[in-house]
Amino acid sequence: MKKAVKCLISAGPTREWLDPVRFISNPSSGKMGYALAKAAVESGMEVILVSGPVSLPCPENVERKMVNTAREMNEVMKNYFPSANLTIMSAAVCDHRPASTDHHKVKKLEVSKNITLVPNPDILEGLGKIKRPGQILVGFAAETERHLENGKKKLRQKNLDWIAVNEVAEGKGFESDKNEITMISSTGQSIFFERGEKLLLARKILDAVWP
Ligand code: PMT
Repeated sequence: MKKAVKCLISAGPTREWLDPVRFISNPSSGKMGYALAKAAVESGMEVILVSGPVSLPCPENVERKMVNTAREMNEVMKNYFPSANLTIMSAAVCDHRPASTDHHKVKKLEVSKNITLVPNPDILEGLGKIKRPGQILVGFAAETERHLENGKKKLRQKNLDWIAVNEVAEGKGFESDKNEITMISSTGQSIFFERGEKLLLARKILDAVWP
């Protein structure tokens, strides 16, 4: 049992609002992050799950913080990160948001054909900058091409200890109950987990990053 380990996990998408009824987002269901939270509790860890909008119930014995936008997720992650031993970002954070949000529903004929976007904070990169010795920081890489090469770049750029590289395409990564993952560490280890249920993969990921 991994008692006294504080584990912080993010899951699900973020929503970036154009007006009260329209947003930019992605197809993340939260299944991967919720599976990690469940597996971490099973192993005896104390778990805080920072979740974007998903329809999944909160796993038992998990403290869940619901957020909506990338900026909200950033604030909550930064708040809990200093006391976490292990942090895993499996959320699919929108890299951009509309430059402005209307407070009233924009009429159909008045909706702009061009949306100006501004960058959201890179939450994981920010955590990598304030990571202390002994803290383990794990990211995910959602890739459609040159998976391992791109994953390794993110591992270095964000100062991570591990990155879980998965392919995303229709029926892969997002929304599916199953996934296939390659774990890469900052020390050069590489472990391939063949396609399987996200809960089984979550257990394997935790065993790799917090043996
Ligand atoms: O939720 P599911 O339907 O189960 O799908 C699971 C998943 C496909 C969402 C998950 O397995 C996954 O790949 N999550 C990461 C998605 C992603 O945003 O990847 P990325 O390669 O764009 O980002 C790299 C890392 O930086 C990720 O850990 C991400 O959380 C983080 N990031 C990205 C952008 C940003 N502004 N801030 C971040 O912290």
